[in-house]
Amino acid sequence: TSNADLKGKRVLVSAGGTLEPIDPVRYIANRSSGKMGYALANAANARGAQVTLVTTKSDLPVPRGIQVEKVVTAAEMEAVLLKHFPTADITIMAAAVADYRVAQISSQKIKKKNETWELKLLKNPDILKHLGQIKRADQYLVGFAAETDELLKNATDKLLAKNVDLLVANDVSRSDIGFGADENQVLLLRPQKDVKTTPKVTKERLAHKILDEVLSSSK
Ligand code: C5P
Repeated sequence: TSNADLKGKRVLVSAGGTLEPIDPVRYIANRSSGKMGYALANAANARGAQVTLVTTKSDLPVPRGIQVEKVVTAAEMEAVLLKHFPTADITIMAAAVADYRVAQISSQKIKKKNETWELKLLKNPDILKHLGQIKRADQYLVGFAAETDELLKNATDKLLAKNVDLLVANDVSRSDIGFGADENQVLLLRPQKDVKTTPKVTKERLAHKILDEVLSSSK
């Protein structure tokens, strides 16, 4: 699948988990390894696309030719994605965006004091939902859903709520696939189409399968 079938296409990919700072030394993180997003960026690059990768990670190699934008928080990720979105033909939100951020980031290290500590959190913008609202008919949008239960139901809800063209749904309760794993097995959902289940394959192979699905279903 390393032909140039994405030549002339601009592909925007987000990868990794956002970090939400608490104070200068602490943050709220999640278990996203960034592997799936990097695999998608690499696969699109290998197929001739002009790729922009918006990532929270710095520990994974990126091939020459891919434009990399490093971000930390969900707010930064949204700003950078919105900047690139208008010129993207295909946008793939593989990042694990924190649903909440800390209400007041302390500029000094918070001292330990009491037996309990309550941290107030505010909801982050749903970037994918926002992109789904502003996307043009000529733009193709891919979202992910990481679920621990009711995979198909939750994924179907997200497909519709976020107005995506393709939703990739992933059972993260299994340790052999999903977060941090080298392999993945997913459901592929499209509006008004039958659900497809992929075989369990490496994230590199799965990335190509996802791009195959995008190409075969875009105008
Ligand atoms: O709602 P949920 O977090 O399960 O949706 C997952 C999808 O939405 C992923 O594609 C993720 O990148 C995206 N997302 C987002 N902004 C958020 C939360 C999730 O873009 N605040």
